Amino acid sequence: MNAAAQNRYSSLASRVYHLDKPTGHSFGDIELYGALLDGEAGEIFEPAVGTGRVLIPLLELGLRVSGSDPSSEMMDFCVTECERRGLSPQLTSGTFDTIPQGRDFAAVIIPAGSIQLVQDPAAAQSIFAGVCSALKPGGRFIFDLDPLSSLTSADAGLPSARSWFDGEDTLTLTSIPETRDISRQLSVNQLRYELWRHGSLVQSELDRFALRFWGNYEIELALRLAGFDQVELIADYTAGASVSEESSMVTVVATKSR
Ligand SMILES: C[S@@+](CC[C@H](N)C(=O)[O-])C[C@H]1O[C@@H](n2cnc3c(N)ncnc32)[C@H](O)[C@@H]1O
Repeated sequence: MNAAAQNRYSSLASRVYHLDKPTGHSFGDIELYGALLDGEAGEIFEPAVGTGRVLIPLLELGLRVSGSDPSSEMMDFCVTECERRGLSPQLTSGTFDTIPQGRDFAAVIIPAGSIQLVQDPAAAQSIFAGVCSALKPGGRFIFDLDPLSSLTSADAGLPSARSWFDGEDTLTLTSIPETRDISRQLSVNQLRYELWRHGSLVQSELDRFALRFWGNYEIELALRLAGFDQVELIADYTAGASVSEESSMVTVVATKSR
């Protein structure tokens, strides 16, 4: 399988994402991000905006959010859902490496653990520096990480299969664990998406889905090195909750000095 088939949110992957986690579907993240950004008058940017699952509810709270994504298929859902609600945010094609500079963002947000799609820590370090320079003084970088412990959890090594029904279509996703590399803090799963209609396979899509996991001290050090002065870790989308070994999600709030 070539590199182009890695972490691609292509047509079936996007459809499954939107069916499984439609606009406004929350893991608790939308409420926490909404609370953290409450009253923020400045511009907010969401790279990896995807289908707008988070962007749209934040716009509906009156926040000024724009976004980018490398997957046109994911962003097509975002555009359609925005139009349905009479919203017209600025949406551009882009990656974590192309976060717009010079707009003095009040916040950059990356929910859903999407920063873990970056497998090379040196590449992540340069992205963190890019986020920091895109923020105005006092600006915040808010993002989520699956805890390092989830790399070695019992169910992380198990295959899984799921299906979704959409009109006459059945979509399936099979996930086969390929690698759990503890020394590099990486997991790789082989994903196979299928679209079935009237008992026939219409389309299939393969993806080699790789994620990097970060330790809590490691991420704090990386962010400080990138220019952030203050780093807060919040457990399980609960404002004020400290991160512990039991935490199943970590939200990082890194602040650039004034
Ligand atoms: C898990 S989805 C998250 C979408 C949305 N932010 C949410 O919370 O529902 C991950 C998104 O990251 C995007 N993505 C993948 N590689 C990326 C990269 N190198 N830079 C920026 N975004 C990337 C994908 O296209 C996909 O839309």
